[in-house]
Formats: sequence, C-alpha cells, structure tokens
Amino acid sequence: MKEKLEQIVNEALSKINESDQLEKLSDIKTQFLGKKGELTAVLKGMKDVAPQDRPKVGQMVNDARAKIEEVLEEKKTSFERARRAEKMKKEVIDVTLPGRQLGRGHRHPNTIALEEVERIFVGMGYEVVGGPEIEYDYYNFEALNIPEGHPAKDEQDTFYINDEILLRTQTSSVQVHMMEQGKLPIRMISPGRVFRSDDVDATHSPSFHQIEGMVIDKNITFADLKGTLELFAQKLFGKDTKVKFRPHHFPFTEPSAEMDVSCFKCGGKGCRFCKGEGWIEILGCGMVHPHVFEMSGIDPNEYTGFAFGVGLERIALLKYEIDDMRLLYENDIRFLEQF
Ligand code: DAH
Repeated sequence: MKEKLEQIVNEALSKINESDQLEKLSDIKTQFLGKKGELTAVLKGMKDVAPQDRPKVGQMVNDARAKIEEVLEEKKTSFERARRAEKMKKEVIDVTLPGRQLGRGHRHPNTIALEEVERIFVGMGYEVVGGPEIEYDYYNFEALNIPEGHPAKDEQDTFYINDEILLRTQTSSVQVHMMEQGKLPIRMISPGRVFRSDDVDATHSPSFHQIEGMVIDKNITFADLKGTLELFAQKLFGKDTKVKFRPHHFPFTEPSAEMDVSCFKCGGKGCRFCKGEGWIEILGCGMVHPHVFEMSGIDPNEYTGFAFGVGLERIALLKYEIDDMRLLYENDIRFLEQF
C-alpha cells in the first residue's frame, strides 16, 4: 500500500513538473485527486485493510494528497507569476507617445447667424422670446388677419394636426402671444422653427427657421422701421450696405414691404452672386395692421408698431456663400468643420 502511494505521488509530481500550461494542472488534479482519481481509488480500497492498520494508512493517504496539493499550488503560482510578468511586459506604457487629439466641435452656420442677429437686436434693446411650434390655427392665421378662406392661407402649405391645430408656418404667431400679454411697449425678436409641406430642394425644406421681429409703442412710424432694418442690414452685411424697400403685401401689415440689401459681393454693380441684380431680397416687413391690434386687444389709435420676418437659413446661406440649403441639414462634419 505504501509503495502504491509513493508511486502515485511520484507519478503526480513528475506530471506536474512536466506540465507547461496552467490549464493542464487542473487535469492533473482531477486525475489524481478527483472523485474518480487514483488517490480516491486507494481510499476506496481501505475496506480491505486490517482495522488496526487503517489510521496509519489513512494518514499516509492524507500525506500523499497534501503533498500533491502543495506541489500543484506551487506550480500554479509560478505559472501565474510568469503570465503576469509577460502581461506587464506587453502592456508597458510609452509615456513619450504624443496624446490623442480630441476633435473640437464647430458651431452650425445657422447657430452662428442666429447669434449674430440676436446680438444686433439685443444691442438695440430687444428681448428674445420663444413660442410654440405646435400652434392653434388662430395664432398662426386668424389673429394675423388671415381668416378662413383667405388666399394667403393656401400660399403656405400647412401641416395640420387637426382642424384647429397645426405646425406653425411662420414665427409671426409669436407676435400674437406677445400682444395678448398686453405688456407694452414691446420690442422683441422671436427666432424659431417653422414648417411647410414643401419638397426638399436647394432652396426649400419642410422645416426651416425664421426670426420674427416686432416693436409696438406710441408714435412708431415707418421711419422707425426703415432706420432699424437699415442698421440691422449694415451690422450684418457691412457698413456700406444699402437697403431698398419694395411695396409688397402681407395680411398682417399695412403698408407692407420687402427689403433688399445691396449685394455685398459686388457692392451693387451686379454679379453672379446677386444674379446680375445688384440687390438681394432679405426680409418681409410692414406696419402692424389695425385689425391685428384689435384682435389682440390693443387700441390701434393709441399704439402703432412695425414687424418683420426673416429666414435664418437665407442669412446663413448668404453670409457663408453656401449655394444649397440641404448642406445645412445634412450635418456632414467635413462641411461643418469649415465654420
Ligand atoms: N411671416 C412672413 C412669411 O413667413 C414673413 C413676415 C413678413 C413677417 C412681414 C412679418 C412681416 O412680421 O411684417 O413670409
């Protein structure tokens, strides 16, 4: 029995010594110490040992098991140590390596243009206000003097949610909210997203942005409108910019006009940029219509005001000489990085 045990131990130790992988150790463990292992088999043979010899033989089996376990453990530790050393060698950090550059974000041309417009008007004492994109027909049309059946209603292809509620087609709706609040005088601009059921092309999109402006006070005249918008154009496009007002029609203003600016590329001589015109159309404006005042509870005999609406994308496209509006929505990083 003793010889048999010694033989098992020797065999186990030489297998452990020969093993070249951590994983093999567990096979060896199973082979000798496992439930069906060789040492266990010896234990099972105890029933044939004379009762008085059993404690001694038991002790010998335990010693053999302890020896095998001890050597297994040592070998395991040495494998682990070697593995760790190898890993450390591989993962060595080269502190002289240059750091990775973090990409810097860029402001969107729309954002740059908007901030510039806001800066100009805030500098003139205007407040910047917001309004809902989902709007009642009343605010988008009716209170702006565009009643049911008015042709102007069909000019703007509207996304309706139901009979009463729509996606606003113009930021002019915010004028009504401001007037309803009744805090006069008013000097505000309201930038925001508007929606029209248009197909996408170089100059159209179902969703774009406008900036609305409105001033209401006593004795506001068309001269105030002209002076304000001329200053705006000069701050935006350069101090030599000239402006021209052409009569136009909007239901919510009377009189109404469209304002052109002299082409800032050719100074008005006519070039490819302004299509030979020398002038570039930039915004719609006018004196707030008495009906619009009355609908929102302001007395048109006491107060007058002017309003204007400008397309944000149009300003961004002009300022940065971008010839296709789709570029503003695709958000190609290579495009945006130029700003
Ligand atoms: N809401 C007009 C549009 O979308 C733009 C506009 C024109 C706004 C004249 C105004 C204005 O406030 O007075 O075409």
